[in-house]
Amino acid sequence: MNRLTQQETQEWLRRYAAPYKELMAYYRCAMMEVSTKFQVLNEELSLQYDRNPIESIRTRLKSMESIMDKLSRRNLPLTVQGIEENLNDVAGVRVICAFPSDIYMLSEAFLKQDDITLIRKKDYIAEPKDNGYRSLHLIIETPIFLHDQKKMMKVEVQFRTISMDWWASLEHRIRYKKDIQMEEHIHNELHECAQISAALDQRMERIHRTSESLRDS
Ligand code: GTP
Ligand code: MG
Repeated sequence: MNRLTQQETQEWLRRYAAPYKELMAYYRCAMMEVSTKFQVLNEELSLQYDRNPIESIRTRLKSMESIMDKLSRRNLPLTVQGIEENLNDVAGVRVICAFPSDIYMLSEAFLKQDDITLIRKKDYIAEPKDNGYRSLHLIIETPIFLHDQKKMMKVEVQFRTISMDWWASLEHRIRYKKDIQMEEHIHNELHECAQISAALDQRMERIHRTSESLRDS
């Protein structure tokens, strides 16, 4: 990995501290905007359906170290403008849902809002990754309103069920803790666990639908 040395990082910070801090504050505002939108949807949909489709919402700001690593890995300019223009995942919002159908309902309701612009969508639920990873990823742009200007900010939104999140969190730990190439049998085992988790999601969704229709009849 193409890491900056400690000295280079210090030098970079001396040069860009103020604009970097400002940009990160803008990303935090954008995450708040997006997070609030999901809280509102959860509140409203819970009135309509008598249950909360969202289990939890998490936000994370990419660390300076990860930002620098990604820029230098991709040979992109190590400037504050370089961050804003080239990285889509500095601001991340993860929406954990109860059932797979909630993911599509929520993402559609979110994308219909007139201040949300879709930049890119990756549906790893319809088409899981080779290792079995499932999640719906959106890169969107949303305005934040500052005292003297409106600024468009990019946010990565990941939608997962509890079961998709559970698998991804453990897979991430297993993969990232060890800096070795993933052995084939471990890869296969993880893939099998992902398939079991997908089957459980479908099964729980069926049970949920049956119980809803019994309740409504
Ligand atoms: P990045 O440069 O890594 O952001 O790749 P990308 O632009 O191709 O994005 P992608 O939408 O494929 O994935 C972005 C994020 O999704 C990652 O930073 C992880 O949070 C998550 N993710 C993607 N693939 C996996 C995976 O195989 N396992 C786990 N645990 N998380 C994943
Ligand atoms: Mg990423």
